[in-house]
Formats: sequence, C-alpha cells, structure tokens
Amino acid sequence: MNVNPKPVRKAVFPVAGLGTRFLPATKVMPKEMLPINDRPLIQHVYEEARDAGIEEFIFVTGRYKNMLEEHFDYQPELEQTLKARGKEDMLAVIRDSEMPEGKLFLTRQPKPLGLGHAVWCAHKLIGDEPFAIILPDDIVSHEPGCLAQMIETYNEYGGNVVAVKNVPREETKKYGILDIGEEKGDAVAINGLVEKPDPKDAPSTLSIIGRYILQPEIFEHLAAFERGAGNEVQLTDAMAKLLGNQAFHGLRFKGQHFDCGSRLGFIAANLAYSLKDPEISDGVREILNKL
Ligand code: G1P
Repeated sequence: MNVNPKPVRKAVFPVAGLGTRFLPATKVMPKEMLPINDRPLIQHVYEEARDAGIEEFIFVTGRYKNMLEEHFDYQPELEQTLKARGKEDMLAVIRDSEMPEGKLFLTRQPKPLGLGHAVWCAHKLIGDEPFAIILPDDIVSHEPGCLAQMIETYNEYGGNVVAVKNVPREETKKYGILDIGEEKGDAVAINGLVEKPDPKDAPSTLSIIGRYILQPEIFEHLAAFERGAGNEVQLTDAMAKLLGNQAFHGLRFKGQHFDCGSRLGFIAANLAYSLKDPEISDGVREILNKL
C-alpha cells in the first residue's frame, strides 16, 4: 500500500525542560547543549531531521535557553579567524552547524506543564499539516536516521507513526506503552496507548522513544489541556484519542538508541560515538583498557 500522504516538512523540538538530572552541569547551560562526542545533543537531532528532508525547525524553548538558537547562528568572527588560520576542515564543520535563514522558528513554553503542552505551544507554527516531533534526549545512531525510516513507514501507511522499542517490563513506568495490533514487518498497528503504566498493567513492553510523526488533529485534543500521568498534559493521551479515526503505527526502527536524559545513557552514547570516530577511537579504546 502507498497512500501518498502530505509530506512532513516541519519538526518540533521541545527544549524547554530543566535538565535536573544533570545538575550542576545544567545550572546555566541547557541540557540540550551537552556534547555527544564533538557536537551537542541538539545538533545531533537537527542533523537527523535535516537528513530526513525537514525544512522548518521549530524550537519550543523557555527561560535560559538562548544558547540553543545561538548555536545554529552564523558566526562571522569565528569563520574569519578559522579562514585566516587556514583551518578549512574546521570551517566546513562550523558552516554545517549553521541553520540557513528562514528555517528556524521559536515559540515558548512558559510553564512546565508536560510534553503535550509543549507541543501544543507550536500549534500556530505547524498549522494544518503533518509534522514530526523529536526529543533531543533520545539519540539514535543509524544511517539512514530514525526519522528518515519513520517517513518511509509514513509514506506507506499515512496517518501517524511513532518510533518504538522493547524495554524490560520493570521500565514501562518511564515510557508511553503500546497496545499492539497487527504486525506488518518492522511496523505494528497500534490498538491503544498508555502513558507510564505500572509494569503489572502495561499492555506490552513496546515503548515509544522520542520520535513522532503526527497529524494536525492532535492539536484539537491537546487544546483541552487535560492532565494525565504525573499531573502533566500528556502527548500520549492526546494521541490515544486519534486511534480509530486515523492510521497509527509504531516502527521498530533500526539503530542503537541512547536515552541521553539519564547519566548512564549519556555516557553510553559518548562511548559509542567516540568509538566510531576514526580520529579518536584508538585512543578511547586505550583509555578504556587502562581504566
Ligand atoms: C516522554 C513521553 C513518553 C515517551 C518518552 C520517550 O516521556 O511522555 O511517552 O515514551 O518521552 O523518551 P518523558 O521522558 O518526557 O518522561
């Protein structure tokens, strides 16, 4: 089946979170600026979206997060200095981290009322078209990237697609969990969705990681600002209301996933990415052996 749906051109990046698990590192620095190997988390997810064909990047930002938009700016002094010193390689790296004009859009989430609320804050910038959501805490190492894989699934079935992976049952209370329908290769139809269920109540162990392709009707449900798990406006609850009316699939994506919102996941990602970097991989291996 190929339903030829409307293209996904816009992506929302919720970046208003406080990053309390990384204090004091995140006391003045946004957690999205923490580096995995040579680039900050936010740049990893930006590149994944850009490589998937996204044209408009929407940051849902908050207080003390200006560094995130600055990171993607044109830096004339830096470029001149690198040029004068003949550092052409580094110049190319810096230019690759710039967002061309007219691509970055900002909106703010004034209060931490939950992921659903953060996404709702972008509704005017999305308008009436399908869009992606990428949580910068979740990093997936694979070519093609996780979002590009999801867009393939979306082109086949239309509707809504979330990235999913199996987790140990005792961890279901950390994630949105699927009630699984028909299996279709790597994709699975979704019958139900529950946010952070107790392991004993979880309908499966297939959990959503931070990648979504959603239809704009989600905003009608988010607009109710209904509180769910943790007394927050949950994206999962609004998605559950789309079930039955629109196609909704989970994609068991290819690639290694790192939860960089936890210190262990962050360290694992740094090890994995640096071990794949030909410039330093031997050195990293040596350090690990010594330690
Ligand atoms: C959010 C979502 C949850 C999802 C998770 C993926 O939870 O609410 O459904 O599984 O992201 O990282 P949070 O991590 O913000 O608690």
